[in-house]
Amino acid sequence: MNLTPKEIVKYLDQYVIGQNAAKKTIALALRTRYRRMQLDEEMQNEIMPKNILMIGSTGVGKTEISRRLAKMMSVPFIKVEASKYTEVGFVGRDVESMIRDLVVNSISIVKAEREEENKSKIDNYILNKIVEKLLPPLPESASESKKDDYRYLLEAMEKKVESGEMDDKVIELDLAKLNIEFDDSGLPPEMAKVQESFSKVFASINKEDTKKEVSVKDAKSLLRQEAAQKLLDSTSINAEALRRAENGGIIFLDEIDKIALSEKSQGRNDPSKEGVQRDLLPIVEGSSVSTKYGTINTDHILFIAAGAFHVSKPSDLIPELQGRFPLRVELESLTEETLYQILTQTQNSLLKQYVALLGVEGMELIFEDDAVRAIAQLAHRANQNTEDIGARRLHTVLENILEEVSFDANEHKGTTFAITKELVHEKLDEVVEDDDLSRYIL
Ligand SMILES: Nc1ncnc2c1ncn2[C@@H]1O[C@H](COP(=O)(O)OP(=O)(O)OP(=O)(O)O)[C@@H](O)[C@H]1O
Ligand SMILES: [Mg+2]
Repeated sequence: MNLTPKEIVKYLDQYVIGQNAAKKTIALALRTRYRRMQLDEEMQNEIMPKNILMIGSTGVGKTEISRRLAKMMSVPFIKVEASKYTEVGFVGRDVESMIRDLVVNSISIVKAEREEENKSKIDNYILNKIVEKLLPPLPESASESKKDDYRYLLEAMEKKVESGEMDDKVIELDLAKLNIEFDDSGLPPEMAKVQESFSKVFASINKEDTKKEVSVKDAKSLLRQEAAQKLLDSTSINAEALRRAENGGIIFLDEIDKIALSEKSQGRNDPSKEGVQRDLLPIVEGSSVSTKYGTINTDHILFIAAGAFHVSKPSDLIPELQGRFPLRVELESLTEETLYQILTQTQNSLLKQYVALLGVEGMELIFEDDAVRAIAQLAHRANQNTEDIGARRLHTVLENILEEVSFDANEHKGTTFAITKELVHEKLDEVVEDDDLSRYIL
């Protein structure tokens, strides 16, 4: 993870238009972590991460930024919704479970790396197991010439299995009992341990390996798990994963505004919201959390919180929590021009998605440039006239324009359909101009 801030921003630019302040702040925070890791240990311990609070109204790219970061990152990274947690003692997930989730994520990163490093070993293991089934070994007493023949066959068979030629063949596989992994990251570690011993007991009652008829293709992926479990050292994976989560982990805490207590909605306030905030304090500040894999210290985990703060304000968070998010960035509302760019310049733009989807039906969809301008303009106007829901408005607007074409696209195989400015206006003018109508439709 040694991208420079510029490189990180450039990567994000492919998916998120504008919001430069937020991108810069985040990129810098990530680089700072890298810099810190290059220092000696004493210095490292002194440098605490500066947590970030992103504020911006709905649909302007907060979650999108985090989603893209998650894809890019090779450091432990999870995105969680603050509104999902409940105060300790209440039914639900307590906030410490996010740290456990982070460790689980870290383990999967380290595991994937180790699997990659040991790829040839693992591949060999799988190949041997499969070939053994397809071509049972010769008895010791076989003559030399038979053994020669066998070696020849074996090689040919290995090639066939590798090339996928044998994929449809069915073989009987003895699958060693895999340690069944429960999704128990929500459980406190004491409980997780109890559960673990339970699964051990069950595994020993049901000791013999399970025999299963599977295709060679499926066997390849089934055996991969087994190979990884046999060939990789899980103790060292866990230790490395803990270390990385501790030093490089990032938690993206979305919807943080949903746990703020606003004055406006006083009557409806859920008392446990404040509890969740209080529970968050020690974790954000730095404390030890025990997990199934060992104890992890949260001092150096970076938190990026985000929220729309429509109803509540950052100052409605309890002061101690506010203070733990010293860096504030605001995301801008989307202008007509930004909306246009979101449609035309992002990697995964909605327009490209529609073109690809209708392409499946053999239909070529073309968006004329002034049509796209018109879409941006109308979406922007709808945002101003009713609620500002940011780029999400584009989804509803486009759906309105394309619904009809999309519905019977399969009957127009081989044709080209152009979305023109006229069509856009024809479909939408009336709706956008009428506030009541657009409230329902857009
Ligand atoms: N600046 C932007 N650039 C590109 N796409 C964007 C931008 N802002 C929003 N989008 C698109 O709009 C949709 C909603 O954005 P996102 O989920 O990031 O909203 P949000 O800011 O998290 O809103 P909320 O506060 O409601 O959670 C996504 O599909 C995203 O791709
Ligand atoms: Mg969001």
